[in-house]
Amino acid sequence: MAIVTFSSPLMHKDKAVYAIAGDTRTALALAEEHRIPIPFECRDGNCGSCLIEVRYDAPDRKKAIMLTDKEKMTLTELGKLTAQEIEDAEVRDMPPRYRLACQFIARDEDVTITFTGNPGGA
Ligand code: FES
Repeated sequence: MAIVTFSSPLMHKDKAVYAIAGDTRTALALAEEHRIPIPFECRDGNCGSCLIEVRYDAPDRKKAIMLTDKEKMTLTELGKLTAQEIEDAEVRDMPPRYRLACQFIARDEDVTITFTGNPGGA
C-alpha cells in the first residue's frame, strides 16, 4: 500500500491518502476522490493543466518509472522534462521531478505530490 501525500498552498494542511496495491487509478482520480483540487482539463495527457511535482519519500527504493508517450510529449513541450530525464527514467529508474496527475499512478511507493493550483503551474 502506498501513502500518497498531497500538498498545496490551496489546502489548509497536507492530506495523506492510501493507494491500495494494484490500484491503477491515477493521482488525479485519487485526488478527486478525496476532494483535493488539482486543476485539470483533458484528463488525457494533452493539456498539461494537471502538472504536479512528485517526490519519492524513499528515493533509494528504485521502481521502474512508467511515462506514457503523451506524458513525455506534453511535459517536454512545457519545458518540464528533458531528453536526459526521459533516459534517466527509462534506463536508470530515476524519477523525473514533474509528472501529469492524469497519467501518474502511484504504485507501492510512498510519494508526496505538490501542486500550486494554477493550471500547468505545478
Ligand atoms: Fe490534461 Fe492531465 S488533465 S494533461
